[in-house]
Amino acid sequence: MGGDLDDMLDFINSLVDEEAMIAANQKQTRESEIDWLARKLTNLEKDRIIHVVAEVDGRMVGSCEVEPRPGRFSHVGVLGVSVKDGYREVGIGQELMKEAERQPPRWASRASCRKCSPPTTEPSTSTRR
Ligand SMILES: CC(C)(COP(=O)(O)OP(=O)(O)OC[C@H]1O[C@@H](n2cnc3c(N)ncnc32)[C@H](O)[C@@H]1OP(=O)(O)O)[C@@H](O)C(=O)NCCC(=O)NCCS
Repeated sequence: MGGDLDDMLDFINSLVDEEAMIAANQKQTRESEIDWLARKLTNLEKDRIIHVVAEVDGRMVGSCEVEPRPGRFSHVGVLGVSVKDGYREVGIGQELMKEAERQPPRWASRASCRKCSPPTTEPSTSTRR
């Protein structure tokens, strides 16, 4: 568990370091990562989100998450995908997105989620499920 946590911390901080187009813009600490992981696990257990990761040699190198927007916009899932520098352009990002799509969308049916949108564009340009 400690190893997994350090691995996730290394993953997110490598993206922050390169100023990748992800929501996080500040380096995470072990404490903030523990809080983040606890929230994720709760949301996963309650089928509120879809989250898949890619590993190479047991190390996390990619992540893809779909999370519904709140309230009245819960029919739109916000999709985030990231792959660690050094592992890009070999298909991991696409495979992560395909795998996320294959996950049983229990939260989507509950929230009537019908669209997926990247975080930086309006839902009208999104992919319909
Ligand atoms: C975007 C990202 C996830 C792609 O991962 P990857 O494993 O290299 O992707 P794949 O190898 O599966 O696919 C590469 C394809 O995606 C395209 N691509 C890469 N980044 C892209 C972007 N920002 N916008 C559109 N297309 C992109 C490549 O041109 C390539 O296209 P091709 O197959 O037609 O040549 C990775 O570059 C990354 O983590 N970037 C930093 C974080 C980020 O910008 N995430 C997206 C916003 S949520």
